[in-house]
Amino acid sequence: MTGHESMHPEDKVGSDAFLRQAGRTFLLAMYAALRSLKLYPIENATAQKSLDDLQAASAGILQSQGDIELRLSGDFIFVNGTRLRLELDNYASFSNLMAALKALEVGELRVMPGCERKEWQVFIGVLLALSGRSGVQDEEHRFLELRDRLERGGVVHIEVQPPVESEDKVAEAEKAREAAKRTYSHGVAVTKDLINSVRLGRTTSVAKVKRAVQAIVDQVLNNETSLLGLTAIRDYDEYTFTHSVNVCILSVAIGKKLGLTRLQLYDLGLAALLHDVGKARIPVEVLNKTTGLDEGEWRLMQTHPWQGVLTLFNMRGYGEIPYRQIVVAHEHHMKTDLTGYPKVIRKRDQGIYSRIVAVADGYDAATTRRSYQTVPIQPDQVLREMWENPRRGYDKILVKALINLIGIYPVGTCVILDTFEVAIVTGANPDANYLNRPIVRVVIDQDGAMLGYPGREENLAEGDGSGSFLRSIVKVTNPDRYGLIVGDYFV
Ligand SMILES: [Fe+2]
Ligand SMILES: [Fe+2]
Repeated sequence: MTGHESMHPEDKVGSDAFLRQAGRTFLLAMYAALRSLKLYPIENATAQKSLDDLQAASAGILQSQGDIELRLSGDFIFVNGTRLRLELDNYASFSNLMAALKALEVGELRVMPGCERKEWQVFIGVLLALSGRSGVQDEEHRFLELRDRLERGGVVHIEVQPPVESEDKVAEAEKAREAAKRTYSHGVAVTKDLINSVRLGRTTSVAKVKRAVQAIVDQVLNNETSLLGLTAIRDYDEYTFTHSVNVCILSVAIGKKLGLTRLQLYDLGLAALLHDVGKARIPVEVLNKTTGLDEGEWRLMQTHPWQGVLTLFNMRGYGEIPYRQIVVAHEHHMKTDLTGYPKVIRKRDQGIYSRIVAVADGYDAATTRRSYQTVPIQPDQVLREMWENPRRGYDKILVKALINLIGIYPVGTCVILDTFEVAIVTGANPDANYLNRPIVRVVIDQDGAMLGYPGREENLAEGDGSGSFLRSIVKVTNPDRYGLIVGDYFV
């Protein structure tokens, strides 16, 4: 989408907001009518009132939009292309209505101008009559019967369509994002559980953790961008847990780039998720300290690699000794030149899994705002530092793999464009020649107007046809300056 042929951004935002509101009212009215007509005879005042409301809601949208196109796609409802938000208070109504329509194989509902109250009455009546019938009839049959009955009932301004079979890209992307979100939050929950039981000295089963890691690996192998995007949401309150999950996702994505097998990725992912498990044995006061650590506390923090080794030895449910996970917990702060901690006496090589986890760990930790860091370092600077400064002790090839993966401007980076727009990076450019030209969502337009979720997507590699680019990044900026919450653009 270039965004040029579309409406002016502000109009689009205004219309989105209107549709979300009016679409919600419309659907709730439809559901209310469905329920009232099911419960009461048609003469009843409640039933009559519900039809009045439905007619009014539909007329309102018709008047402002010309027509109404209600589309069910996966778990989402779109009204004239705008996705309605499912909230707790409307969730049950929406999902019941969707179930009723889906049961009759309705994927789309079109309402044309001139639609009368009488037509709504017939429509709701037919829906009820057909959905109440349990039968052996196949769905196609039910759909055809619905259409037939509407026609016979004189309904000409409401049209039903079967679900669109062709791949709906928007809905597919939404679905992937929903799946990614579930995997992510499940990973966080499982990690939280694990860390808490270690803290309480309970024995812990690793089976659940393993399954969560497998889900992450499978998701990264299928569609890495959705999960990688989620690592940009950095929740300070849940830092310990989200950090582990982020490091897991980043490590697995790097491992995939290096061509590791699925089984190797499971192993690596588990090691990554557990890399800081030793921190569960560090007093919480030290872990969450908001000011700098004194020397004793720092020394205590530095015990977490070998505390992790001990913790892992005590875990049940492996079937075998978690050898690789133990090595990673032990080595992840050693640095490639072994100048890190714990100190090594005999010369050794930091293992490949440990190197991968170290890169993922360094990146995630540095880009997260901790309580004592008021300003997180911008992701592009973090990568540059990891790449350029040998004293950081990262494996350069792996840093390169990470840069290739997330681009020079990683997902979540807030950038100012030469068009005076402000945008948030949502993905690396699929064309590897354009590492410095990611896919972004413009969230503030050139006049300074906020566009709100989801913003307007632009590919910065797009040219104007005469050899120059339409948009280029001028600089990276701090989203706080503009009152932007980056996480809002990934939910
Ligand atoms: Fe660590
Ligand atoms: Fe860590």
